[in-house]
Amino acid sequence: MSQKRIGILTSGGDCAGLNAALRAVVHRAVLGFGWEVVGIEQGTLGLMERPIRARALTVEEFDGTLLRRGGTILGSTNRGDPFAFPMPDGSKTDRSQSVVEGYRALGLDALIGIGGDGSQALLRRLAQQGGLNLVCIPKTIDNDVGVTEVSIGYDTAVEAVTYALDCLQPTAASHNRVMILEVMGRDAGHIALIGGIAGGADVILIPEIPYRIENVARKIDAVRNQQGRNFALVVVAEAVRTAEGERVTVGDPGVTRYGGVGHYIGEILGQRIDAEIRVTVLGHIQRGGIPDARDRVMASAFGVHAVDLIAAGRFDRMVGWRDRKVIDVPLEDVIDQPRVVELDGAIVHTARALGICLGDA
Ligand code: F6P
Repeated sequence: MSQKRIGILTSGGDCAGLNAALRAVVHRAVLGFGWEVVGIEQGTLGLMERPIRARALTVEEFDGTLLRRGGTILGSTNRGDPFAFPMPDGSKTDRSQSVVEGYRALGLDALIGIGGDGSQALLRRLAQQGGLNLVCIPKTIDNDVGVTEVSIGYDTAVEAVTYALDCLQPTAASHNRVMILEVMGRDAGHIALIGGIAGGADVILIPEIPYRIENVARKIDAVRNQQGRNFALVVVAEAVRTAEGERVTVGDPGVTRYGGVGHYIGEILGQRIDAEIRVTVLGHIQRGGIPDARDRVMASAFGVHAVDLIAAGRFDRMVGWRDRKVIDVPLEDVIDQPRVVELDGAIVHTARALGICLGDA
């Protein structure tokens, strides 16, 4: 096996398990093949800036501590598209060539990009433009990357939602309240649905299923009057639409950032039921935190396989997990093919069979 120098970067929103993936890549590349690994800082920004922001990653650095740590030691960004890079005067400019030149200047033989759907699309465009040898690893708490059943960070996010509901239930019961928990996930309801089932939610609203507030109110009345329970738990995914079909967004114009729909639903529900309602927005607690065992193991398997793909000279591919196996697929099969909740799938069936209201009935 010839000596190689490979680069690695984390791109897009961070999540738990990224450091475990970096560790796996370094261990496999350095110990398995004797290669050098260069860590690029702040995603593609590190390749765009001069001097280039990159450093050697060594096995010594991954001494057993970083595997357990959330975030990413390389830093990341979910802003700064190199093809439409935001300038201080508000205009956008194409900086893609400086990213390609950064890759060349570092003398890289290949690049591993750890990112979600959006980051992978940008990295692939860069790879096609500049002839970069690219392999991607899927990560996102939203778990919406196509083809793979699992992306790094999702499982830990679901644990955070479950834990939040475990905390909300006793206080809801003590005060006879309806607790609304708003969770992340963008246009996919995976976090809300799985976390909600695990945490014993009575109502789960996801972007894939349009809801009617009367159905939610009816379910809460039934819980309180027919089942004799004095509290209820409602999980709301952040991209659920309002009754008028609007998304609730916050932040800068031009950048869609969700947030606030939990409060909106609390308000319109309060007009229909005779109960105290409180709203919790779980936010970035789902992104930070200690990676759970499953995320550490997925990240490790993905990192090893990504290096093996490079060793085999197989590029323009994403690693993934399917049917209890690590797989790899062409990037073109993944990009722009988001995986949302299957409405006729086992999980939706389970939720309905448990009597959980999904808002449509
Ligand atoms: O894509 C991951 C994610 O956490 C989404 O679930 C959420 O909508 C978004 O990122 C939040 O982004 P930011 O960190 O920019 O607020």
